[in-house]
Amino acid sequence: MSIIFDEKRKIFKLDTPNSTYAIKIFEGGYLLHIYYGKRLNDTNLDFMIPSTIDVSYSPRAKSVLSDPDFSTDIKPMEYSVNGTGDYRVSALQIRAACGNASTDIRYKSHKIYKGKYSLPGLPATYANTEDEADTLEIVTEDVHTGAVVTLYYGVFNCYDAITRAVKVENTGKEPFEIERIFSTCVHFNRMDMDMIGLWGSWARERTPARRPLEHGIREVKSKRGSSSHYHNPFVALCDHNATEQLGEAYGFSFVYSGNFSAQCEVDAYCQTRMIMGLEDTDFGWHMECGETFYAPEVVMAYSDEGLGGMSRVYHKLYRYNLCRGKYKTAKRPLLVNNWEGTYMDFTGDKLVSIAKDASELGIELFVLDDGWFGERNDDKSSLGDWFVNEKKLGRTMGELASEINALGLKFGLWFEPEMISPISKLYEAHPDWCLHVGERERSEARHQLILDMSREDVRDYLVDTISNILDNANIEYIKWDFNRNLTEVGSALLPPERQKELFHRYVLGLYDLNERLLKKYPYLLLEGCSGGGGRFDPGMLYYVPQVWASDDSDAMERIRIQYGTSFVYPASTISAHVSAVPNHQTGRITSFETRGNIAMAGAFGYELDLNKLTDEERALVREQVANYHKYYDIIQNGDLYRIISPFENDRLAAWEYVSGDKREVLFTFAVMRGFFPTTVQIKLPGLDPELVYVDQKTGKEYSGSALMYGGLQMANDDYMVNGFSRRDGYSEIVYLKAK
Ligand code: GLA
Repeated sequence: MSIIFDEKRKIFKLDTPNSTYAIKIFEGGYLLHIYYGKRLNDTNLDFMIPSTIDVSYSPRAKSVLSDPDFSTDIKPMEYSVNGTGDYRVSALQIRAACGNASTDIRYKSHKIYKGKYSLPGLPATYANTEDEADTLEIVTEDVHTGAVVTLYYGVFNCYDAITRAVKVENTGKEPFEIERIFSTCVHFNRMDMDMIGLWGSWARERTPARRPLEHGIREVKSKRGSSSHYHNPFVALCDHNATEQLGEAYGFSFVYSGNFSAQCEVDAYCQTRMIMGLEDTDFGWHMECGETFYAPEVVMAYSDEGLGGMSRVYHKLYRYNLCRGKYKTAKRPLLVNNWEGTYMDFTGDKLVSIAKDASELGIELFVLDDGWFGERNDDKSSLGDWFVNEKKLGRTMGELASEINALGLKFGLWFEPEMISPISKLYEAHPDWCLHVGERERSEARHQLILDMSREDVRDYLVDTISNILDNANIEYIKWDFNRNLTEVGSALLPPERQKELFHRYVLGLYDLNERLLKKYPYLLLEGCSGGGGRFDPGMLYYVPQVWASDDSDAMERIRIQYGTSFVYPASTISAHVSAVPNHQTGRITSFETRGNIAMAGAFGYELDLNKLTDEERALVREQVANYHKYYDIIQNGDLYRIISPFENDRLAAWEYVSGDKREVLFTFAVMRGFFPTTVQIKLPGLDPELVYVDQKTGKEYSGSALMYGGLQMANDDYMVNGFSRRDGYSEIVYLKAK
């Protein structure tokens, strides 16, 4: 059991293989956070609770007799509440029927059990067997409203990950309002840390930004209704000198796809509080008597092997304990998607001719993207009209799928289920099905509105129409797109006091729809997408095991996007394609080899018109397909080591996958901008110094220790001319195996 309760000291100690998290039940039922960090041996930890000396301006809880200076303003509160003396960012605020919101939760009881809790209607990490995780539930009660607030802790035995979630129940006789509910709150008796977030925009997703903590509050958030391109629901705190390999790093990752907030406050006493959960300005939840509310899960990861160690915790956990379904472990089919190849300008015959080439080249899945339904030949109409445009295809969808299947390929289809075009049959029939506020203007983006996913009739319609397509054609893959953010967030069905719930209800509806379709069609491979990688979050990964990482398919840009994405998300989730040059987003020309080498670091595929390939390019596709199969296992299941960051070095990037037994190494090196006057020697971390590795291409042998501590020399005639690199966009994959 990884959770200990020391009855005498009233201390909970939660242990993962290398980390400990400790909580104390203090006098009066106050819950104090004692410690989170490297694994500790015992529960003799009271001395770590900061003493409160300077409390002149801090309200004291007079009922605490053992510590007359006890003040929630200063103490390391385990789950901070608003209105009763703790002026720092708070995790919870409940407004009672009388109108007052002074929240004050105190310990009541607890429960420890084998296995991991789950959250009804919400995605969450899970234990594959009871032995993989244990759960602690601490039940507290709000003194004022009687709200029963249960704090959940999931402790993984195999990874250094601890999860948090919260349940609120109204067991009383009056309704109340949850005005703010964050899922985690963690205290650190220090401020000498950096905070890292992943910001971005369309075509530039997940750029790591690192800055030292300072006094005051730093926040990353989304108010767009989706996790968004702009800030990923992830934050890391780490030592100032933490590197990829060294130092302590703490990750906070929100298993949710809508509005979120992560706030980090350094107080006057140089203590740090980190909270993460539902963004609160556009949130509220009305609680009638007998009702229950669950706040989504936050996954906290700890590593004392730097940021790389933290990422590897997430990679394993999300691959094996978050993603689900057949394709969690089954080999993903290598796909070609027609979007950048044809956009919406295609005929059925054209699609079949691309599929013919795909079949000859060893590609396994053909994906038909946007433009196959309603009257859709541009982005101005038809979303919601999920009826096959047989005139455009020249056949039924069933016939098209059969033709493609006959070529030996699986068939997949694009949908954007949550959307509705104002020019559509659906909108004519149901103008009240979209998010809207009365007669007020409905803001459009990409000429579309958003369906009110909180409505069951809307979800029923989507299940029916999507099922109708799936039942009449052999479709084994769906690309699930979402191309705009929420505005005028009002529902025609919700009563006024529940309109503020709509942002969250939207996401719950989205999850329900995914779950219903996956239950009905469990063999489906879903791929998430949102104008590229605008909804790349752990919430979606519970339903879709891979996500189109960005609409920017330029290999040089993808180096950065995929590098940032890898802070949290494993290669198996990062959908990456070889596209045509000049690249459609950047105009850049990069070699076919490099486009393949970079896309290889994810869920690999192609996105171009295969009919237009030259013989030389066709040969390269065959080679890449062979490499895809050869490297699949090490990329999907190996340990990632980021070696040279494209954000710190504007010329070079390098990363490596190492197999679990350390006997195989796949190293990728890319020259983003050439012309550097020497050879480059790159240390390969994570190897076994005792082994001898053989380069599978050249047959050259290297000792593990020499590669680790000396480095592999990257200098060859391919990119060096007179000792200078002249080849922007050169890249190389080196595959090493132990002798
Ligand atoms: C979004 C996606 C693209 C493509 C188009 C289709 O932009 O990110 O990959 O599917 O929509 O309209």
